[in-house]
Amino acid sequence: MNSMTKNDDILVDWQSRHQDLLGVHAIKLHHRLIDTGLFSREVLGRLIERCPKNELGLESVSFEGEQHQRLYGELGAASGMEAIDAIAKGRMWMNIRRVMDWAPEYQALLTRIFDEFDARMGGFKTFKRNLGVLISSPNCRVPYHADIQGQSLWQIEGVKRIFLYPRSDVFMPSTNIEKILLRETTEDMPYRGWFDEFATVYDLHPGEMLTWPLYAPHKVENHDCLNISVTMEHWTQQIWNSYAVHYGNGVLRRTLGLQNSSTRDHGIHVYPKAASAFLWKKSGRQITGDVVSKRDFRIDAASPIGRTDIAGAQ
Ligand SMILES: [Fe+2]
Repeated sequence: MNSMTKNDDILVDWQSRHQDLLGVHAIKLHHRLIDTGLFSREVLGRLIERCPKNELGLESVSFEGEQHQRLYGELGAASGMEAIDAIAKGRMWMNIRRVMDWAPEYQALLTRIFDEFDARMGGFKTFKRNLGVLISSPNCRVPYHADIQGQSLWQIEGVKRIFLYPRSDVFMPSTNIEKILLRETTEDMPYRGWFDEFATVYDLHPGEMLTWPLYAPHKVENHDCLNISVTMEHWTQQIWNSYAVHYGNGVLRRTLGLQNSSTRDHGIHVYPKAASAFLWKKSGRQITGDVVSKRDFRIDAASPIGRTDIAGAQ
């Protein structure tokens, strides 16, 4: 315990230097989410059953060398606990999305956590906060990708290994970030095995959280155990400015063929880019949403791999 924390804080070992590091460098801290009682298997089993269908994501990835293919699943008639048992013996992950929107006790927790951050980060104001729960199989892997907002990962059960890559044009060119922001692609990005030689590797154990620099590419590999993790997202004015700049650059590149690659997220040049980004959005030229129409598998707790293929899907 240090002088910056109180007994009821969710973050245990925050220190003043983290104020400068957050969002710029990777930070690993300890948390007390488990003590809230909101993340036991039993409580999460009930949460799965409360989850609106469109907020429950089930996915699996088959890897072949550096390539991979995503498969999409559904809960079917399984109970929440059956689903967790199925995930424990299968190779898939469940994303319980936007929990704060439909479960008030998690909204209260999210507010409490970001009030803690805001109090410690003088002048730091977060918005569009998001809390999700990720339940994933032993040895499950999430492919190399980058996210568009501030991210943190909070481990509840099991151990996962996070490979974090440098935020440079070698590992994630600005043009790729623009593609993600313009939603012209899923957030998966070209990956080469040798990238790992440049990764910083973290093993995340229960009670630990990790946050990393904006747009830093990463991939995740579970150890040989069921993993339960909480994912949180947030936006700040600076993150929004950065989004507007990249988005605007992407639009200009597409409409005017400009090679303008300034990505500074402050100063007067932000505003014309934000305006062009807005116009691009209004024009409806993005691909739409994350809605998955095809389901490839269904949870099946009785199956040795926790799922059955849905006929007709591939
Ligand atoms: Fe991510």
